[in-house]
Amino acid sequence: MNNSQKLFDLAKSVSANAYAPYSNFHVGAAILSDSQKFYCGCNVENVSFPVGTCAESGAIATMIAGGDKKIKEILIYASSKDLIFPCGACRQRIAEFSSKETLVHLADDSGIKQTLTIEELLPYSFKEF
Ligand code: THU
Repeated sequence: MNNSQKLFDLAKSVSANAYAPYSNFHVGAAILSDSQKFYCGCNVENVSFPVGTCAESGAIATMIAGGDKKIKEILIYASSKDLIFPCGACRQRIAEFSSKETLVHLADDSGIKQTLTIEELLPYSFKEF
């Protein structure tokens, strides 16, 4: 199985575990790190709405806990009519652990629909101070 298929399968299967009783919108994210390891996460909502976390946050936290710090590719999956794009905060979260080559795949039930670099999704990001 190739990396894209593995990322898709992981993100889709973890989306089934999303805790999303308020939006009913299940999202899964899967990461391939530069050390060729796979990580994934889902969205976890909270009755105090702003406390909820996106799938991308969960996948990044799992990658950090696993000892990796660089995202080679990340795939975001949701079973929705319109393709979803990561929110602004998640673009910044992804950028923190990305290089110029990092790929962001956007997928729905039919597979990967669009692939962009994080630079395209978040140009002029805040990097250093
Ligand atoms: N959500 C994600 O997990 N990732 C995204 O890229 C967009 C939105 C979640 C947050 C919330 O639990 C639900 O989708 C509806 O906004």
